[in-house]
Amino acid sequence: MAFEIETPRLLLRSWRDEDLDAYARMCADPEVMRYLPSTLTREQSEQQIAKFVCHWEKRGFGLWAVEIRETGTFAGFVGLQYHGDWPEGEHKTEVGWRLDRSYWGQGLATEGALASLQYGFDHLGLERIISITLPENMASRRVMEKSGLSLRGEAFWRGFDVIWYDISRREWETYNRS
Ligand SMILES: CC(C)(COP(=O)(O)OP(=O)(O)OC[C@H]1O[C@@H](n2cnc3c(N)ncnc32)[C@H](O)[C@@H]1OP(=O)(O)O)[C@@H](O)C(=O)NCCC(=O)NCCS
Repeated sequence: MAFEIETPRLLLRSWRDEDLDAYARMCADPEVMRYLPSTLTREQSEQQIAKFVCHWEKRGFGLWAVEIRETGTFAGFVGLQYHGDWPEGEHKTEVGWRLDRSYWGQGLATEGALASLQYGFDHLGLERIISITLPENMASRRVMEKSGLSLRGEAFWRGFDVIWYDISRREWETYNRS
């Protein structure tokens, strides 16, 4: 069972069976999946949700389903994921996000990212949180910057040339106070 978080506009909550329709629709959208390996079939989306739920059960944290508080509609995911195969150092927990296109451009990913970082540092006691993307994914990079992360370098990961950002606990405390 995921710990739930409310932000001004979002509810970060556990995954529900009813999320599959909206999640599958979002992951079949080529624009949403433009910087990800490929669009997903409904079956692949279902498998992905099962993996997210397994991650929560195994590690006690993970990617939340994002719900718009005002309407109760599913909007995507945001949260933390542990990548055991991340090659650049010992800090392997990533903050990540994917929202349905109709919710882009309103600061919602950043709102969810900030709540995820707060949870990672305050509740999980992490020392450093990373974030990974393709260099050309400017919206995602901007979310990283607006959440206080800094560019650290390039890496080759899961068959792609990626760039990665991170933020330490100390940097977060300073950023969060400002
Ligand atoms: C990345 C994503 C989650 C951002 O969601 P969002 O709610 O629109 O993000 P925010 O509104 O919090 O911030 C987006 C920022 O990127 C900027 N941006 C968007 N598209 C951009 C582009 N093509 N070039 C430069 N900046 C861009 C926005 O202007 C905004 O910055 P600003 O507040 O300074 O104006 C959303 O675009 C998405 O789901 N993309 C597809 C999935 C994906 O790529 N996930 C990440 C994989 S690493």
